[in-house]
Amino acid sequence: MKARAVVLAAGKGTRMKSARPKVLHELCGRAMLWYVLEAVRAAGVGEIVVVTNEELDPHLAGFAAPGGIPIRTVIQEPQLGTGHAVQVALAGLSSSSGALLIAYGDMPLVPAATYRRVLEAVDTNVSLALTTARMPLPSNFGRIVMRGPILERIIEARDCSPEELEIDEMNAGIYAYDEGALRGIIGRLSNENAQGEFYLTDTVELLIGSGKRVIPLLEPDYRVVLGINDRVELAAAAKQLNARICEAHMRDGVTIVDPATTYLEPELTLSADVVLQPNTHVGGRSKIGLRSVIGPNSRITSSTIGADVKICESIIVDSAVGDGSTIGPFAHMRGGAQVGANVHIGNFVELKNAKLEADVKAGHLTYLGDSNVGRGANIGAGTITCNFDGENKNRTEIGEGAFIGSNSSLVAPVQIGERALTGAGSVVTRDVPDGARVAGNPAKPLPKKAPA
Ligand code: UD1
Ligand code: CA
Repeated sequence: MKARAVVLAAGKGTRMKSARPKVLHELCGRAMLWYVLEAVRAAGVGEIVVVTNEELDPHLAGFAAPGGIPIRTVIQEPQLGTGHAVQVALAGLSSSSGALLIAYGDMPLVPAATYRRVLEAVDTNVSLALTTARMPLPSNFGRIVMRGPILERIIEARDCSPEELEIDEMNAGIYAYDEGALRGIIGRLSNENAQGEFYLTDTVELLIGSGKRVIPLLEPDYRVVLGINDRVELAAAAKQLNARICEAHMRDGVTIVDPATTYLEPELTLSADVVLQPNTHVGGRSKIGLRSVIGPNSRITSSTIGADVKICESIIVDSAVGDGSTIGPFAHMRGGAQVGANVHIGNFVELKNAKLEADVKAGHLTYLGDSNVGRGANIGAGTITCNFDGENKNRTEIGEGAFIGSNSSLVAPVQIGERALTGAGSVVTRDVPDGARVAGNPAKPLPKKAPA
């Protein structure tokens, strides 16, 4: 049977000074809590219970469950401490034997491997395995009190004597319990301490006192167990996380010219020999194909970019770019824009819900909205699809090989035929047949060209 997990997230997070619940604050494009759930899932947990409060709980209804594993919430009101939170969670969970992982929702940097280590250490002989870390002092973390090589108890910083505050081995806040053993003692927590709270950390002494084994596992890199309590720590954690994501892609064959100014999110697919130039953001579930060069100063969100693409100083959101195309500088694609292979989109061109077939060129100062553009069409500088009549959005169809003269206004709904031509400055209000040539305002047919 897969282990179960309880993630504690009901604390008020007052130091964020925010109307938004703490664990929903984002780093690298995802909520703090998302990372915790993702790592817990990746550690092999099959079911997650999140302890929430009344403000947080409604937000979790639509919360994307990583890997599709079931997430339930249990509301803890009022919040009487981490031990109380676990009492509330256990009361809401059918009792089961086996391992129960307990994690805190404000620790987004903990890798799955750290959770896996405690889960692997707990069994019928070990009732609790918990993660510790050595840290620079001073620190607000709970102190690990050892007697010789044996763990004796955890003392919260606010309950420590000056000597105990000198201990530099900390309770990270990551626990795997034998659920039966935990249920046996969880009702015996007391709140006689400096904060008047029921501490989960007191389960250590209670388990040891009832003859159970508790083992500490040292995490070598203390930075991964740092929690986030305010926005300064949030920014520091985001920086660390971003560096970690960049490093993973660099090890997989992506060139990142300046990781410090490249901002990546966790669910990207970046192919080998992609180059990310400085000040570039790539987010959502974007995919970038082989050898494509992105940036500088670009933002790609939830988009699919093909191979050998060049995107310079541009913004691409919810869109797709085909192999070998060049975009920018200063282009903006959004709203499901799609360009095929070997398309050129140049300076100050905006594409919204427009589909451009292969080999189209739109080099300068153009707006193509709600449009289909056939293969090889040439869109002159300053072309505008007038897609909005004040009430409705209307479509523009431009046929294969059409030539749209500079500064044409295409008043939708309108169709420009294959290999048709509009003269510079045309205001096209009627459909143009295949091969026809129009000009003027409103655009009228031109005399047929003498055959060459
Ligand atoms: C806790 C540990 C401390 C450890 C530190 C590591 C306890 C008593 N202390 O202290 O030993 O070094 O984490 O970061 O556990 N929460 C609830 N309900 C509550 C109180 C808290 O769900 O009633 C949640 C919070 O939302 C948070 C987590 O539990 O996600 C930890 O609570 P917090 O108050 O931040 O504990 P610390 O004082 O940091
Ligand atoms: Ca904390």
